[in-house]
Amino acid sequence: MAQIPTIALNDGNSIPQLGFGVFQIPPEETAAAVGHALDTGYRHIDTAQMYGNERQVGEAVGASGLGRDEVYVTTKLGNGDHRPDDARRAFERTLADLGLDHVDLFLIHWPLPTLYDGDFVSTWRTLEEFEADGRARSIGVSNFQVDHLERLAAETETVPAVNQIEHHPYLANAAVRAYGSEHGIVTEAWSPIAKGRVLDDPVVGEIAQRLGRTPAQVVLRWHIELGNVVFPKSVTASRIEENLAIFDFELGRGDAERIEALDRGEAGRTGPHPDSFSRGGR
Ligand SMILES: NC(=O)c1ccc[n+]([C@@H]2O[C@H](COP(=O)([O-])OP(=O)(O)OC[C@H]3O[C@@H](n4cnc5c(N)ncnc54)[C@H](OP(=O)(O)O)[C@@H]3O)[C@@H](O)[C@H]2O)c1
Repeated sequence: MAQIPTIALNDGNSIPQLGFGVFQIPPEETAAAVGHALDTGYRHIDTAQMYGNERQVGEAVGASGLGRDEVYVTTKLGNGDHRPDDARRAFERTLADLGLDHVDLFLIHWPLPTLYDGDFVSTWRTLEEFEADGRARSIGVSNFQVDHLERLAAETETVPAVNQIEHHPYLANAAVRAYGSEHGIVTEAWSPIAKGRVLDDPVVGEIAQRLGRTPAQVVLRWHIELGNVVFPKSVTASRIEENLAIFDFELGRGDAERIEALDRGEAGRTGPHPDSFSRGGR
């Protein structure tokens, strides 16, 4: 079984560098997909309250026969629950749905700077409570821009352990990543293969052919060599296996630079922009 590297976090914990994402996996398919991922050797699952499949993630983890400390579970606060009392209730619901007494990592899913009077600071302080009482081993943020991170640094005590942001060959997101590396915040790259859109790129295809790997493996390997944490999503058993088989090869000289040069800036973004995204809901 593949040996998945771990990355040290700024709070003394560590996180498996490769995990399995479950965004847009319907609840009725989630337990089977997560079960296959765990059987294949994944030990890190990335879900969210807004994905509507925490219960099924919990079922699959419970059915896996693995010990609680063998599986790293991340989830994220829903956009409708940023006010502290709502966040507390939502977090309790999450633990009940997952069937766990703690999560390994709990994130603010989106900063929502145009909602809640722009206040994500009181939300962050609420996550600090969850870390202090041990129900979240680590806490972090997602989709935070540099100015959002600067505000947390100025007004709170805890530096986020991670910032989970959109990042793939078509969206370098360089300023946010640079802030993270300068301040000890690990970058988690969501949509690491740009939801499949980078797989037909001729540059990726040429490298894949030369290395005898698939385009997805080349792009995931690129993330690993950059030091990102990634959790590709798939409901396809063969792809779940393929995406884990990236620890027995390396990119060649100059390959990383060629992939980095594919950056399309804002035109490469597949999801909403964090400065304007304002969809509430759970
Ligand atoms: N924090 C956030 O705001 C945020 C936003 C988006 C995503 N995320 C996280 O990041 C995870 C991954 O992102 P994502 O699901 O958006 O996109 P992704 O992992 O970049 O791409 C998933 C898509 O690629 C396909 N695919 C997967 N492996 C493949 C392979 N080896 N060959 C060909 N196609 C392949 C999948 O198809 P099949 O499933 O049909 O096989 C699916 O359509 C999510 O599940 C979630 O955990 C977080």
